Amino acid sequence: MPLGLFDRGPIDDEVAVLRARYPREIWPTHHNLGETAQFWLQRHDMFRELGEMLRAGSVEFAEGRVEAGPFMGWLAPRLNVFLQQLHSHHHVEDEHYFPIFRAADARLGAGFDLLDADHHVIDALLHELADAGNALQLGLKGRGDVPGASAHLADRLARASTGLMRHLDDEEDIVVPLILDRSEPGLGL
Ligand SMILES: [Fe+2]
Ligand SMILES: [Fe+2]
Repeated sequence: MPLGLFDRGPIDDEVAVLRARYPREIWPTHHNLGETAQFWLQRHDMFRELGEMLRAGSVEFAEGRVEAGPFMGWLAPRLNVFLQQLHSHHHVEDEHYFPIFRAADARLGAGFDLLDADHHVIDALLHELADAGNALQLGLKGRGDVPGASAHLADRLARASTGLMRHLDDEEDIVVPLILDRSEPGLGL
């Protein structure tokens, strides 16, 4: 199976080794879904919603259905939250959570390698998004090509949103079953 973020479909059971035993339908009511996991899943839902909102908004602007002033007033704070929060979310996963999870079950090593590689791909896209947002802002100040910049921003947001959705689903399929299997106190969370 191809493992690249934009090359793969949902990950196989050989990577998400505990998913079959703890399918998504049982997560919400499982007694081992603790506060950390619930908070983490809520953050993922926030990123999904915000990513989709930004993608759709950028298309509306690129297609001329919204004025530049109100659009930039709407876009800038939301794009900043998306970029900053996602960056720090990955940082905490890389530095704190993934090492704990890797150590807990050696069979998940391939899964965490894949998620780690996803973070690099997504972080590169976040930089491209920041650049695309800046290019649009410069364009609107008369220092660049506004249609080109808005089309580019919409294109990068579509790509980031697609990649992010794939990553979040796969990450949850690897991590949540482990938490349900061991419990948060059992993992030292
Ligand atoms: Fe992640
Ligand atoms: Fe995450």
